[in-house]
Amino acid sequence: MGVLTKRIAVLPGDGIGPEVCAEALKVLEAVSERFGHFFELNIQLMGACAIDATGDPLPETTLEACYAADAILLGAIGDPKYDNDPSAKVRPEQGLLRLRKSLGLFANIRPVTAYDVLLEHSPLKADRISGVDMLIYRELTGGIYFGEKGRTADGAYDNCYYSRAEIERVAHLAFESAVTRRNKLTLVDKANVLETSRLWREVVQQIAPQYPGVAVDYLFVDNAAMQMILNPKQFDVILTENMFGDIISDEASVIAGSLGLLPSASVGETSALFEPIHGSYPQAKGLGIANPIATILSVAMMLEHFGMQEEAALVKEAVDYTLDKNVLTPELNKTNPFTTEQVGSFIAHYVQEGGEGFRHLKTEEHSLSTII
Ligand code: IPM
Ligand code: MN
Repeated sequence: MGVLTKRIAVLPGDGIGPEVCAEALKVLEAVSERFGHFFELNIQLMGACAIDATGDPLPETTLEACYAADAILLGAIGDPKYDNDPSAKVRPEQGLLRLRKSLGLFANIRPVTAYDVLLEHSPLKADRISGVDMLIYRELTGGIYFGEKGRTADGAYDNCYYSRAEIERVAHLAFESAVTRRNKLTLVDKANVLETSRLWREVVQQIAPQYPGVAVDYLFVDNAAMQMILNPKQFDVILTENMFGDIISDEASVIAGSLGLLPSASVGETSALFEPIHGSYPQAKGLGIANPIATILSVAMMLEHFGMQEEAALVKEAVDYTLDKNVLTPELNKTNPFTTEQVGSFIAHYVQEGGEGFRHLKTEEHSLSTII
């Protein structure tokens, strides 16, 4: 692939967001040096930090930067001062929801992989999770999250609505991805109770013949929640609506052994946003203990989105090597923990040297503390 220039809006956000973003940008810089691409960064406020600065979790300048970008990298948003106040009028999360809706990011894609070296870190039994490799497609701009909501004299309601078109577009993405994987797609719904779920089934059944190689099965969400723990290896591609996807993907994240490992992509017709699935972890802010790998793997997904397959593969290889060498933050390496910054530098250094070049370096030459 030739040299490319890409514009990236960076929204570091709140809590540990800026720290993990800094490491991901270090890795991006290493990709740029190694492959010659140009990444133009536009760093903007979103979330609680934006509320503090402007009163708005998604200021107009941030939204404009996102519209103008080829992709968006997000750290994390959220602050405890809003979480326990049901009467708060503005919340950091509103910024994220508005961003998803404004940019039309209708599909949220979350890969869940059980890394062999981390099997004992998961609370689930190793033989149950070894080899797990699933991809969750969560619809992201419809359903109960965006339906009409409100209060009545003595109650409240949240409407759940889906159009056929909303289901079709995300379903096609999920089927297309299943074709490149193990040809299995599971629709998770609640079709025994919900009309919207019955529409999801109908639409998926209508689309399925276009992908004759893909075996489709259907699970009610309560059963899916159980199967996720009992036998997660059965899943290849999961397709589901917004709220079920929110819940089931957090549950699936337990398999990987750390929330700090899982990346995500949110894509639409024209925009794409990449973010770790973990939150802003405010208790860890500034302590250097946050795991940057989820954000670094989100950068790998971004590179794939740009068509930079070799670049993405090198970043993932660097992460695998880092896991093998146990150059990891304290939640995964209690005895000899590395800092957020050291993990980021190690991975960036690997990328910059290219795999083999780095492996041949002596340990003391591995960059573990300084920006390369
Ligand atoms: C996620 C988060 C968001 C969601 C919140 C922060 C609004 O939990 O990305 O999964 O519910 O979609
Ligand atoms: Mn969530």
